[in-house]
Amino acid sequence: MRYSRMPIEVESPEEYGYGNIRFNLSESSIADQSLASFGLEIPDLTLLYGEHRGSPGLRELIASVDPSLGINDVLICGGAAGALFIVATAVLGKDDHLVVVRPNYATNLETPRAIGCGIALIDLAFEDGFALDPDRIEQAITPSTKLVSITCPHNPTGTSIAEAELRRIVEITARHGVLLLVDETYRDLSLATPLPIAASLGSHVISVSSLSKAFGAPGIRVGWIINSDPALQELFLAAKEQISICGSVINEWVAEGILRQKRAFLTRTLAEWRRRLDRIAEWLEGRTCWNG
Ligand SMILES: Cc1ncc(COP(=O)(O)O)c(C=O)c1O
Repeated sequence: MRYSRMPIEVESPEEYGYGNIRFNLSESSIADQSLASFGLEIPDLTLLYGEHRGSPGLRELIASVDPSLGINDVLICGGAAGALFIVATAVLGKDDHLVVVRPNYATNLETPRAIGCGIALIDLAFEDGFALDPDRIEQAITPSTKLVSITCPHNPTGTSIAEAELRRIVEITARHGVLLLVDETYRDLSLATPLPIAASLGSHVISVSSLSKAFGAPGIRVGWIINSDPALQELFLAAKEQISICGSVINEWVAEGILRQKRAFLTRTLAEWRRRLDRIAEWLEGRTCWNG
């Protein structure tokens, strides 16, 4: 592995200094929350090594979103970033090939680059409304392709594919014997009905998400991998154990407390998002085109 710092991290608000930013127009999460805003007070927890896969209560809450998923399909990781790192390093080697969408959240591109595997980039274009064409994914697959990697809802464009397209990509990757990674970190912020958890659509599909964006809790670094293939989960667990053995018992306790309030919290958040989106749409409507 050859690491170099990603510009998105060098220039991140926390590294640049929140105090140096007057108008943050590009924040990618909802406002950062506090323990008090979730009504949580940390009890006297025993500071033991936690269960390596993550606390059962937390994994149960994550799996409960889809009846086809069980607690053993969930592995808790150090944020979605940690989950993406585990997937890339566990699945890809120098001689392997990856098909990945660009632009993308940087880790989805940079970890494979650090590994030194072959990469086919599927560039999304403004002119096409950043649409992702499943046929382009199929055309990019080679005999050495191990992984197809997409992000949906997409960062940085905010676009989402339709369920039929997701199912098509699931079918294409299954037919070619290729794993499919779907970075679903923004799934809970979908204003339309969210797509199914991708990992519920096939044992070759790996979903990644976290509490960072939709719940405003990036500071607890709790994310997860969902996948229903026990052999793959064992591989991901082996990677996690080499990195950190287990997660933080404190952070997982907090994560569980947040997820217990998921429905009420997201209902409030999405209503506020809808209100703000309508406000911007209204404002845009009153403007003339740049060159109009
Ligand atoms: C699409 C996407 N995936 C993953 C991450 C990493 O999130 P986390 O804070 O859970 O590590 C981000 C953060 O910006 C992201 O935008």
